[in-house]
Amino acid sequence: MKVAIIMGSDSDWPILKPAVKMLADFGIESEVLVASAHRTPERLHSFVSEAPDRGVRVFLAAAGAAAHLGGVIASLTTLPVIGIPINCTPLGGMDALLSIAQMPSGIPVATMAINGAKNAAIFAAQIIGVSDEAVAAKLKEHRVQMAAEVEAKAARVAADLD
Ligand code: RP5
Repeated sequence: MKVAIIMGSDSDWPILKPAVKMLADFGIESEVLVASAHRTPERLHSFVSEAPDRGVRVFLAAAGAAAHLGGVIASLTTLPVIGIPINCTPLGGMDALLSIAQMPSGIPVATMAINGAKNAAIFAAQIIGVSDEAVAAKLKEHRVQMAAEVEAKAARVAADLD
């Protein structure tokens, strides 16, 4: 099972790149595409309609400004779509956040925080982990690692008090 990561422009790539690594750490292959709902609609349509045959089961859609990418992808597939609003305008990403979150009833897009690519990758892994035990096990390991990191931070702060 793969995750397709689609972004509206190459200017979004620095935000999205860590998501590719995160998915790889969970043992999930990803496909990456720059395609725009507004600038390359035909390319977007063909990629989304052919993606299930290549094993794609979840889409990540990252876009800034009037961010219609996730909504358009969701209109073309019944696979889950996770939207990532990108901060790239004087509105600080609020424009993209509201564009992605306020989908019309019937066509949902799961909306992450502004620039929230890492959580998007984890959420995609959680969707895949429902039916893939190896991915579910890696997600549990990740939680254990995070807890250990917090304990290490707590110990450093405690040591600084002495
Ligand atoms: C959106 O417009 C893209 O997703 C990007 O976040 C934003 C700006 O794109 P560029 O003008 O940098 O190509 O469609």
